[in-house]
Amino acid sequence: MISAEFGDRYSERIWENHTAEDFERDVLHGLRATQKSIPSKYLYDALGSVLFEAIVLLPEYDLPRRERLLLERHASTIVANLGPSPHLLELGSGSSEKTRMLIEAAIANYGSAVYTAIDISLEALRAAAAQLLERYPSLVVDAFAGDYFQVLAEVPRRPATLALFLGSNLGNYPGRRGHDLLRAIGGALAPHDFLLLGIDLRKDRAAMERAYNDPIGVTAAFSKNVLARVNRELGAEIEVGNFRHMSRFDEDTGSIESYLIAKRSATYPLGEGRGTVRFSEDERVHIESSHKFTRDEIRGLAGATGFDERMYLPDDDAGFALVLLEHREGC
Ligand code: AVJ
Repeated sequence: MISAEFGDRYSERIWENHTAEDFERDVLHGLRATQKSIPSKYLYDALGSVLFEAIVLLPEYDLPRRERLLLERHASTIVANLGPSPHLLELGSGSSEKTRMLIEAAIANYGSAVYTAIDISLEALRAAAAQLLERYPSLVVDAFAGDYFQVLAEVPRRPATLALFLGSNLGNYPGRRGHDLLRAIGGALAPHDFLLLGIDLRKDRAAMERAYNDPIGVTAAFSKNVLARVNRELGAEIEVGNFRHMSRFDEDTGSIESYLIAKRSATYPLGEGRGTVRFSEDERVHIESSHKFTRDEIRGLAGATGFDERMYLPDDDAGFALVLLEHREGC
């Protein structure tokens, strides 16, 4: 057990109400609606998190490589304005792979660091924490498994905090929800704390769509896993093979919209006492929005949620950017 091995350098907390009932309620609500959908956070169960780790290895999915180059270039500048014993607070930490560059820069600069990792997947949190603790003897890791909003409302505040929301994860929170999420992050920060965003930028349509329609079908498997999960966890009998994955850029929303589309019409049981769900031919289930930002959108969003832009660091062809925001006084 990880806590036994690392003693008081590791602690974890699990939000019990992110559980079976939430999943059941949200899935049934989404599948009974006129425009069917399943919340994208449910893509990341143990299998989904592993499939996502495969996505980041796809040459077509270039976001992680772009972000990594930027972190290599700028990590020490980014941590330079934190105080002693800095605190890195990451949302959607996953494997914490790229975060290492920032942790390393923080330890190099200040001798030690505290890392709070928040993720929906407890398995991913534990695996990442074990590696980090092993590697960095002066690091303390607090792991929080749960929904971002739930965790942010209760996460302990620490001085010299740099919050991290990388991988263009913010893109999964389009419109109002992104606004609400930045506000919630601000709520866990003191004035003059920082927030680093990794943001995929609006670019050529073909380049954006390629990243979500890889030829070997890893992204399709990642998407379809959410239906398989409904079968696994609710005892539903949806024929996953009757669905195909499709992602396309929607000019109206400014997002890559991902869907599972029924090939044939069919009706499936949803498990004990929950009735059935009917799909017509070509009916879509919306599973994910991946928003692609413009520079103005980011500025506007930051300004409206209590942050000031301190650094805007795009890569060479302005396809991806790191954006360092400072939390404003009185917000
Ligand atoms: C982890 C949410 C940033 O939207 O680009 C990758 C998830 N989905 N391929 C994204 C994802 C399909 C990814 N985020």
